[in-house]
Amino acid sequence: MSERQETPVQEIAKSCKNEVPERFIHKNGYPQAQVDFVPLMDDFVVDFSLLFDHSSSESHHLELAKLQSALSQWGCFQATNHGLSSTFLDEVRQVTKQFFHLPLEEKLKYSRLMDDYDGYGNDTIVSENQTLDWTDRLYLSVHPEDKLKLQYWPEKPLAFRKVINEYTAKLRMMFEPLIKAMARCLSLEENCFLKEHGESVNMAGRFNYYPPCPTPQSVLGIKPHADGTTLTMLLQDSEVEGLQVLKDEQWFRVPVIPDALFINVGDLLEIMSNGRLKSPVHRVVTNSDKERMSLAVFCLSDPNREVGPVAELISDEKPQMYKRVQQYQDIFFQYYQLGQRPLDAVKI
Ligand code: OGA
Ligand code: NI
Repeated sequence: MSERQETPVQEIAKSCKNEVPERFIHKNGYPQAQVDFVPLMDDFVVDFSLLFDHSSSESHHLELAKLQSALSQWGCFQATNHGLSSTFLDEVRQVTKQFFHLPLEEKLKYSRLMDDYDGYGNDTIVSENQTLDWTDRLYLSVHPEDKLKLQYWPEKPLAFRKVINEYTAKLRMMFEPLIKAMARCLSLEENCFLKEHGESVNMAGRFNYYPPCPTPQSVLGIKPHADGTTLTMLLQDSEVEGLQVLKDEQWFRVPVIPDALFINVGDLLEIMSNGRLKSPVHRVVTNSDKERMSLAVFCLSDPNREVGPVAELISDEKPQMYKRVQQYQDIFFQYYQLGQRPLDAVKI
């Protein structure tokens, strides 16, 4: 299978004069992509300061109940009062946008090489039939330290490394309390997912840049997929909407809440929970007049570690639904680019 790097979407957007290349067009169309017809999802905000504060048992339990309800209905929610200031979140957005606004030659210094996940680029071509996503991205491993590939870390803007290191270190602090709270939502011993996952959390940032697209009705920013992670923590653009979540075969728009982090369950946690927690399918739509950025931070277990459904959730009534998996990311990317669900490959 040959892989080649494509022209950045940002460059195509500049030069395409309203004619988007064929390979970005979803030929069968896709229903309800137009923002006007897609309802807004609501009522799924979780206040982390209350969730993680066990001193007031009443407000803590109330927040835990909200988390439980969001997880069972959506598999995702917006986190507020997480301890990151709105000024700091704006700095994260700022350095991300500044990177994508650099001249092309500068960005190309960080181009992803073949057979690597890290670096600047866009969709890997695995098939002639693949429909391409209208987005450029910078993918960076951010934790643990020995997985960092510094050659891909932008030197400009100057604040990039410092801001992103600080940001991801803070997100890392939220991982453990959050996955413990999720176990408690299922009335499980709070360490049960953590034990399965392993103490070490691997984190990678996917910095997404979506240029305006002249034909948003037939082009997607990111095609429908679920994340191959344990959890994903997403910082959305502070103004421009685009993310949508699928529930009961209906798409819903994720509202922009500027100071909130959008958090979703990923396939690995669906596997560990033996299907009790759902990894939601989501997509990103394009629009014709505004650029959009986002930063998804993927949290997953060490790729060499084998993870599977926890024993507590397997019973005669609920038999094991998924095989134990290792190196899930590799399965993930092959299926993803073909618009298929990698979870189907590991179902029993
Ligand atoms: C992703 C993703 C959503 C967004 O990067 O996996 O779903 O809003 N991003 O950019
Ligand atoms: Ni995603």
